Amino acid sequence: MDKFIIEGGQRLHGRIKISGAKNGSLALMPATLLAPGCYHITNTPNLRDVWTMSRLLGSMGVFCELNGNDLFIDSNNIKSFEAPYEQVKKMRASFYVLGPLVARFGYAKVSLPGGCAWGPRPVDLHLKGMEKLGAEISLEAGYVIAKADRLKGTKFHLDISSVGATGNLLMAASLAKGTTVITNAATEPEITALARMLVKMGAKIDGIGTNCLTIDGVEELKPVNEETIPDRIEAATYLIATAMTKGKIEIENTNPYHLTSVLEKLESSGCKIEVTSDRIELEMDQDPEPIDIVTSIYPGFPTDLQAQWIAYMLTAKGVSRVTETIYQDRFKHVPELQRLGAQIDLADNVAIVKGGNRLSGATVMSSDLRASASLILAALIAEGTTEVLRVYHIDRGYEAIEKKLQSLGSSIKRVPTDIF
Ligand code: UD1
Repeated sequence: MDKFIIEGGQRLHGRIKISGAKNGSLALMPATLLAPGCYHITNTPNLRDVWTMSRLLGSMGVFCELNGNDLFIDSNNIKSFEAPYEQVKKMRASFYVLGPLVARFGYAKVSLPGGCAWGPRPVDLHLKGMEKLGAEISLEAGYVIAKADRLKGTKFHLDISSVGATGNLLMAASLAKGTTVITNAATEPEITALARMLVKMGAKIDGIGTNCLTIDGVEELKPVNEETIPDRIEAATYLIATAMTKGKIEIENTNPYHLTSVLEKLESSGCKIEVTSDRIELEMDQDPEPIDIVTSIYPGFPTDLQAQWIAYMLTAKGVSRVTETIYQDRFKHVPELQRLGAQIDLADNVAIVKGGNRLSGATVMSSDLRASASLILAALIAEGTTEVLRVYHIDRGYEAIEKKLQSLGSSIKRVPTDIF
């Protein structure tokens, strides 16, 4: 078990390269279950969640090797169609294997994910969609068992525009007989990237990038090579960190278009931003204006940046409101930020952040991936030393975060610890 020791007060400055998107890789990897063969997925981030997905696919007989950021997958010898509880409870994205397994093999046994650090996260839409595609679904001892001779095209409206359900159903429908129309589909860039990979594999999908996807099922798909898109959440986290420390940063290997809503908010807060097709430069030389945000589906402000925005607003010249609409209870970071001296009031799904108060270093505990990011950001501006425990959460989704922050001039080190 590691912890981070961070000395606050350094101004971030310099240039970093953004890694491939965690949520992008986690959608592309299960797609390799749809067609036997060898795949090479470049720009894959070297992260715990990617290792977890590799282990899960490995337990089914899929060979996965991550060499630097090159992921090699051989799905020629699949021998099991089961995703065990031990894997799914570690990472909900494991549920992505359901659609491809039923579509290709007519059978899947996937553990229900259970609860999550920030409240209920049901999978009912995945299951309703699979049933509409003709799968017979039953629940046995905490597992979903899905069976089908061959899935059949259908019309399915997602009551909530779910990223995971859209990805799962998209993969399943690609091998179904006939045409499937998914309305209110997620348009998150990671789903669009999955759809593009499926098209390369031979799938027939119209409406990519829109919330209405039409999929003409095909008999079989073929393996491909693919590149993972840049991680928009990682990129924005470094932009916010730089703005908090009144620094200057240039980030490479990014897609500014994926961050339009976030860049607008950063600009409104006073940051100077310049973008080219794959680079963003940001400079901040003042205390930010307090700027309210409301999380929403893409292209709105991402819930995965809500915790970091709260940390940012602690440096603002006044009061701001951060409203969470995707996961109403996703505020586990708030009591930990309060331990650093943050003034935040919670009222239902709204955090009222009083900026401008001095933060001082303390020991704080990560509860989930993005919460950990917000604690590290707050530590960068706190006076004195902050210890962030349980950094395995951050290792799920930020590749080499301490190395990137060190290269930007911050004082952060990873230290083994017995404290859990
Ligand atoms: C994905 C992302 C996660 C991000 C989230 C929202 C991955 C691996 N994870 O998670 O980082 O925070 O999108 O952008 O890509 N819902 C239901 N029933 C379902 C499915 C979802 O009610 O069957 C609800 C959820 O509780 C939530 C909302 O839909 O309120 C959105 O969830 P969803 O888009 O499915 O999130 P994930 O795919 O789990």
